[in-house]
Amino acid sequence: MAYNLLKGKRGIISGALDSSSIAWKVAEKAFREGASIILTNAPIAMRMGEINKLAEACKTEVVPADATSLEDLENLYNTSTEKLGGKIDFLLHSIGMSPNVRKKKEYGDLNYDWFQKTLDVSALSFHKMMQVGDKQDAFNEGGSILALSYIAAQRTFPDYSDMAQAKSVLESIARSYGYRLGRSKNIRVNTISQSPTMTTAGSGVPGFDIFFSYADKMSPLGNASAEACADYCIAMFSDLTKMVTMQNLMHDGGFSSSGITDEIIEELRK
Ligand SMILES: NC(=O)c1ccc[n+]([C@@H]2O[C@H](COP(=O)([O-])OP(=O)(O)OC[C@H]3O[C@@H](n4cnc5c(N)ncnc54)[C@H](O)[C@@H]3O)[C@@H](O)[C@H]2O)c1
Repeated sequence: MAYNLLKGKRGIISGALDSSSIAWKVAEKAFREGASIILTNAPIAMRMGEINKLAEACKTEVVPADATSLEDLENLYNTSTEKLGGKIDFLLHSIGMSPNVRKKKEYGDLNYDWFQKTLDVSALSFHKMMQVGDKQDAFNEGGSILALSYIAAQRTFPDYSDMAQAKSVLESIARSYGYRLGRSKNIRVNTISQSPTMTTAGSGVPGFDIFFSYADKMSPLGNASAEACADYCIAMFSDLTKMVTMQNLMHDGGFSSSGITDEIIEELRK
């Protein structure tokens, strides 16, 4: 059901790779809720072609941008404000990648050039997106900016490797930039800490199916789906959450507040 929650708003949504991507669902729902959006992804992801189907369905286009490149981001804001006919009301950072995880490097044997890449792509790019947008005065007063995080920022999940550090930095950037943009433009900046979700980035983590199932059993509501995460993003972009800022918002079916559950006890009894 649509509620017109984003009627008249303009947004940029990054990170839709295929229909399993969290950002894909956010784009579909934002369009359904009345927003005009621009999609963006790394030039390499564009070659896979899938995102053009989404653009067609959302009556929009894709502006390629490597989120670590200031030049690409400058072009992204110039093109988006021109095509959408005004400043940006909401922005989704839905970007994560670790070469160390991809190449199955042990945490005790990390490649530090790759570690820097992990931080640049998965965390600093969030700062860059806000800094470039702010400098270009591309954000509207009262807007909403979100990035997606994971509970490995606070607790150790061994296979999450250097992505854990990236998520901690990402959440910290949300607080620091939330202060700045809150004071200057009443813009709120938050991260949503999402349950494990079956997407390309998610299932790239070794043993993902095990911790997906563990988290599901450890959450009274079960794992939150990508669809449910998209609903939460829409609520955060809407005018119904105007006073929420500088928060890491848990969207995990209760996982982060559970000590143990009956399902886990049952599992261990076997
Ligand atoms: N899937 C999960 O279990 C899970 C859980 C919590 C948080 N998250 C976070 O959600 C976000 C979206 O991930 P997803 O699970 O939808 O997976 P996904 O693989 O569909 O999305 C990741 C996106 O990042 C993009 N990307 C990578 N490098 C980029 C760059 N240099 N510039 C621009 N874009 C780049 C990819 O092209 C891809 O579209 C990520 O931040 C991820 O860490 C995922």
